[in-house]
Amino acid sequence: MPAELAIVILAAGKGTRMKSQRAKVLHEAGGLPLIAHSLRAVEPLAGRRGSTLRGIWVVVGHQADVVRQVVEPFGARTVLQKPQLGTGHAVAQALGALPRGVTDVLVLPGDAPLIGTDTLRALLKLHASAESAATLLTARLEQPQGYGRIVRGDSGEVEAIVEQGALSPGQAELREVNSGVYCFERARLTAVLGQLGRNNIHREYYLTDAVVLLRAAAGRISACTVEHPEEILGVNTLAELAYVDSLLRRRKVEALMGCGVTIYQPETVVVDAEVTVGSDTVIERGVELRGATRVGSRCRLGAFSLLRNARLADRVTVRPHSLVFDSRLGEGVTVGPFAHLRDGADIRRGARIGNYVEVKKSVVGEGTKAQHLTYLGDATIGRDTNIGAGTITCNYDGINKNPTTIGDHVFVGSGTELVAPVRVGRGAYVAAGSTVTENVPADALAIARSRQVNKTGWARTRRQKLAAAKARKDEPVVGVRLADGRSASKASRGPRRQPRARSKPRRRRR
Ligand code: UD1
Ligand code: CA
Repeated sequence: MPAELAIVILAAGKGTRMKSQRAKVLHEAGGLPLIAHSLRAVEPLAGRRGSTLRGIWVVVGHQADVVRQVVEPFGARTVLQKPQLGTGHAVAQALGALPRGVTDVLVLPGDAPLIGTDTLRALLKLHASAESAATLLTARLEQPQGYGRIVRGDSGEVEAIVEQGALSPGQAELREVNSGVYCFERARLTAVLGQLGRNNIHREYYLTDAVVLLRAAAGRISACTVEHPEEILGVNTLAELAYVDSLLRRRKVEALMGCGVTIYQPETVVVDAEVTVGSDTVIERGVELRGATRVGSRCRLGAFSLLRNARLADRVTVRPHSLVFDSRLGEGVTVGPFAHLRDGADIRRGARIGNYVEVKKSVVGEGTKAQHLTYLGDATIGRDTNIGAGTITCNYDGINKNPTTIGDHVFVGSGTELVAPVRVGRGAYVAAGSTVTENVPADALAIARSRQVNKTGWARTRRQKLAAAKARKDEPVVGVRLADGRSASKASRGPRRQPRARSKPRRRRR
C-alpha cells in the first residue's frame, strides 16, 4: 500500500441519463444503493494490519443529505461539491479536504458496483512499486461505447484518455477503456487539477484530462488491466442498472452455492448482497431473500416465498408462497404455505404457523400451533398452545391497537374471536365459535356464543310447506280462455289490458 492513502469516491452527480429524480448512486442493484457497493469494496482495505489508509471521503452533491445517510454508517466522511462541474472538479474538492499527511489518493466512481477488493489491492500494489504519478485501472470491452478510451503510444505507454464524444474516427476502434478507478500521487495531481479546462461537449472539468497534464509534467503513468472486464461496468442508464443488478444477483447465488447452499434454478432466485444463508439449506425456485435476512443451516425455503429482514434459526421450514417481513423464526419452526408474518412476529422454537395465517407484531411460544386461516395481531401466546382454525384477534378498535395475551397450554377452539384487550389464562379452554370479550381465568372453559336449540322436524315441515306453495303457484288458472281456444295458466297469461281511458273527464263533484 502507498505511504499514506486516502480513498475518494465520486457520488455528487445527478445521473442525467437515468432520467430519474433520484441521485444515480442511490439507485439499487443487488439490493443495495450503488454507492454502498463501492464502499463495501474499499472497506476491507482498512481492515488489514499495518494499513496506511487514512480514511474514505465521498464527494456528495445531488441529494447530498440522503447520500450522506447511506455512506456515514461505513465510517466515510463527505465533501460537498456544489455545483457539480465534472469529475476533475469533484476530485479537486476532495483533495482540499484531505489531511496533510495523505500522499496518495485512490479514486473510484460511485456508479460502478462490481469492482472487487482484490483488483483494488493489485492496483495499489502496482502504484506503489512503480512510483507512478497516476496508475489507471483499465478493461478491454467488446462494447466500449460510453467509456473513455485508453490511448497508448507506440511503446505501449498510456498517453491519454479520450472521452466518447471526442473520439477521432481512428480512436473509435479502441477497445481498452478507462474504469474510472485510479490511484494518484496527491501532490502531482493537485498541481495539474488547476490546469484542467472545460473545452468539451459537457463544459465540465474532466479528471481524465489530468493524464495528459501529468505526462507533460514528466509524471509516470501506469496502467493495469482487469482480468474480468465486467468488474468495471458502470451504470449510466436504467437498462445498465438492470444488467448490473442481474450480474450481482448471479454472483450472490454462486457465492451461496459455494458455501453449501442448495439452490434450485438459481436464475430464478433473488438474494440481496447482505443476506447470509447457512450450509445445507435448500432454496427452492423463485425465492427472494431481501434486506438483512439471515437464514440458518438445514432450512428449507419453499418456492416463491419472500423474506425481508427475516431471521431464521436452523432447521426452519418455510413452505411455498409465504411472506416473512421483519420477523424471527426459531429453531425447527414451520410456516406456510401462504403464511404472512410481519412487523416483528416472533415465532419461537418448534412452533407451527400454517396456511393462510397472518401474524403481526406477536410472540408465538415454543411448540404452539396456529395451522389454518388465522389472524394474530399484537398477541403474546405462550407455549404448547393450540390456536384453532379461523381464530381472529380483534386487535383494532378503530383508534387503538390492543393486546391479546394467551397463556401456555391453552386450547382456543376454531372460529374464535378474541376481542382485545383480553387475556386467556394458562391451561384454559375456549369453545369453538366463541366471541371472547372478557378475560378467561386459568384452567377455565369459556363459551361465548348463544346456546344451540334443535327444533325437531322443523326442516321437514318447512320443506313440505314450500313444496305446497310452489305447486299452488304452478296450477293452471281456471276459467280464462284465450281467443284461439287455449286455456292459459297464470304464468302464460299475457300482459293485463290497460283499463280504457275515459273519453270524458269526470265532472268534479260540487
Ligand atoms: C467517467 C469517465 C470515463 C470512464 C467512466 C467509467 C470522466 C470525464 N469520464 O465517465 O472516462 O470510462 O467514468 O465509468 O471522468 N461525479 C461527481 N461530480 C461531478 C460529475 C460526476 O461526483 O461533477 C460522479 C458521478 O456521481 C459518478 C462518477 O463521478 O458517480 C462518474 O461520473 P459520470 O458522469 O457517470 O462519468 P462517465 O460519463 O461515466
Ligand atoms: Ca458513469
